[in-house]
Amino acid sequence: MKVGDTHYRSIWFDGEKSRVMIIDQRWLPHEFRVVALDTLDEFATAIRDMWVRGAPLIGATAAYGVAIETQRNASDEALDNAWERLHETRPTAVNLRWALDEMRGVLSSLPESERPAAAFRKAEEICNADVETNRMIGVHGLEIVRKIAATKKPGMPVNILTHCNAGWLATVDWGTATSPMYHAATAGIPIHVWVDETRPRNQGAQLTSWEMNSHGIPHHLIVDNAGGHLMQHGQVDMVIVGTDRTTASGDVCNKIGTYLKALAAHDNNVPFYVALPSSTIDWTVDDGVREIPIEERDDREVTHVFGRLEDGSVTSVQISPDGTPGGNPAFDVTPARLVTGLITERGVTEASREGLLGLFPERRSAA
Ligand code: MRU
Repeated sequence: MKVGDTHYRSIWFDGEKSRVMIIDQRWLPHEFRVVALDTLDEFATAIRDMWVRGAPLIGATAAYGVAIETQRNASDEALDNAWERLHETRPTAVNLRWALDEMRGVLSSLPESERPAAAFRKAEEICNADVETNRMIGVHGLEIVRKIAATKKPGMPVNILTHCNAGWLATVDWGTATSPMYHAATAGIPIHVWVDETRPRNQGAQLTSWEMNSHGIPHHLIVDNAGGHLMQHGQVDMVIVGTDRTTASGDVCNKIGTYLKALAAHDNNVPFYVALPSSTIDWTVDDGVREIPIEERDDREVTHVFGRLEDGSVTSVQISPDGTPGGNPAFDVTPARLVTGLITERGVTEASREGLLGLFPERRSAA
């Protein structure tokens, strides 16, 4: 998407510099900082410490991490080591495993001399496919927004609540949850977005708000606990969120707090949609609550808040007493029964095994 006059993706290979570039998202919204990643270690750090984050972007970054490592050492052993190193960085988003498997699937059958070039080609292919997939999610999601707009008084916006950042910064481009928003804005459908701040790391406050701001989409930042109140008062027409892993039966794992939004939406008859590329479906898992590994992050993310002082320096402030430990599960699972629909690159379906298999019939034999 555009930043100023320049079109950016969240990750790209710079042909002139021969380097992989990313947007270091830790500095947003205060600073738009682009950095190069040059070694397997740097790729692993960038994913683990969330310089890049968001399920599809984690996968795309891992793909380039494998490519970079293959340039240094293209042996089977190095490939397996890169797979393990990158896989252990973050446990919940299944796109990471998916992208690593895609890379190993292509490379392992090739002679070592051909692997580096093939690895960069494959990583680029994964990125390009992600962009097209997310564009199609927007095309399908737009029709839902359009239908809701038709029920509103002329000129009144469709109020969409979203959680975390499932925007273009979380993917290679377009975003998943945001793609229908960008498409609606382009189609001239008035929308207004309620952006959950998304404690503890504030991806909503820092990243989604920045995206909405940059693209001129009307929005308000709200605290995580405001959603239920707004729904009770008819101020939310629909919810759209992303997901880090969706099971074969349609359970949806996403940023912590998503489940509570789904419960509130259910209680208030607000449609609750989840936007996802098929690379986020884990066909090996059925019961999301029991089977999906939930990342536990540093408790400092809970006991402290991070922000920027007027002099520009970034600082953290402790908000709890010394000695109070924080608990920090980073994701939760929303059962399929609370999900109105899944918006995928192939269309919209109910959150169920049959619904997903209807869109992805090639999976029937494996199911
Ligand atoms: O911890 P993060 O910032 O990687 O979590 C991101 C999310 O939970 C997103 O909603 C999800 O990955 C979907 S991104 C298109």
